Amino acid sequence: MEQTFAIIKPDAVADNQIGGILAMTEAAGFKIRAMRMAHLTRKQAEGFYAVHKDRPFFGELVEFMSEGPCVLLCLEREDAVAKWREVMGATNPANAAEGTIRKTFAKSMGRNCAHGSDSKENAAIELAYFFAGNSLQ
Ligand code: CMP
Repeated sequence: MEQTFAIIKPDAVADNQIGGILAMTEAAGFKIRAMRMAHLTRKQAEGFYAVHKDRPFFGELVEFMSEGPCVLLCLEREDAVAKWREVMGATNPANAAEGTIRKTFAKSMGRNCAHGSDSKENAAIELAYFFAGNSLQ
């Protein structure tokens, strides 16, 4: 079994879409191994997205991710990293396939309702960033 890290972003939480997204997550065969609501500080958002710090959208991304509460998740299933990215759909909801989470709930590239790790290595790093000290088995 593989684990990945996911976020239900502040836009989706504000729009009462937590339940809808979790329902699609479980229907896709994921077990929720850890889950916590958090209102990220700017510093936490900057640290989490540090890899994007030189991109033109970094300021907007940090502002958005710290504007309200989000839901942090450890998701588990076979091939979890790739499968979660498939279930979320393309980063830009305009390009996301029908039936994906972003096609269903997201409004724009910047406010795209969900995050998922892009590799097994980054999943381990991102899970440790937000669930340090927890035993995720
Ligand atoms: P996420 O998967 O959380 O990882 C990085 C985020 O940056 C991405 O989702 C988008 O929400 C955001 N992002 C990527 N490209 C752009 C862009 N061109 N403009 C605004 N935000 C972007």
